[in-house]
Amino acid sequence: MLKPADSLVPLSPAIANRWSPRSFDRVAEISDTDLTAILEAGRWSPSTNNQQPWRFIVAKRGDAHFENLTKNFMGFNATWAPHASALVLVAAVTTNEDGSARPFALYDAGLASAFMTVEANNRGIAVHPIAGFNRDVVKAEYSLPDNFTQTAILVLGKQAPASALIDPALIEREKAPRVRKPLTELVVAGLPVSEDLQISA
Ligand SMILES: Cc1cc2nc3c(=O)[nH]c(=O)nc-3n(C[C@H](O)[C@H](O)[C@H](O)COP(=O)(O)O)c2cc1C
Repeated sequence: MLKPADSLVPLSPAIANRWSPRSFDRVAEISDTDLTAILEAGRWSPSTNNQQPWRFIVAKRGDAHFENLTKNFMGFNATWAPHASALVLVAAVTTNEDGSARPFALYDAGLASAFMTVEANNRGIAVHPIAGFNRDVVKAEYSLPDNFTQTAILVLGKQAPASALIDPALIEREKAPRVRKPLTELVVAGLPVSEDLQISA
């Protein structure tokens, strides 16, 4: 199912057609090449002073990491997200070696997540980020240090029809239109379009 962005001007397809589905093909597998490409897209993201604070836990359906992560999904994430082909938990190292803070580490980790999302979508792999998982258990399971902040898990897989979700409430959510605040609300100053959102010549 396509839910292209209703943008004022056309966007590149990988951006326009990206959305976060919950219906994933339960048997589709992701190739190591695709998964590596997605991780490489994260690795080659920009970061503050090239600190590259992102760290990843990578899981493929059927392996122990997948089991470790999926058992910690919270709320309704536990019903649909385990059908993914792969998961990438994105963490950020939030301090330098001398203990001083890295105020932009989370920004950098978000950028890496965005790059991975675009690369995945470009390869026909859908991505749904989730923040609803139990970080304390993951932290203990992987002995993550205190300066690792877990951001989101990227749920990756082949999109399936909405009907495969079975739960009517989830199907309705899957089919719901994508909505965004208007640019007039987001751009505090310097909006390049006129009041009525017509593109100026
Ligand atoms: C950091 C982050 C955490 C999110 N956590 C969840 C989540 O736990 N469960 C869920 O179903 N969706 C989650 N989402 C997905 C958002 O709800 C979704 O991106 C948003 O509604 C916009 O929809 P779109 O991505 O389809 O354009 C999360 C998104 C982000 C960026």
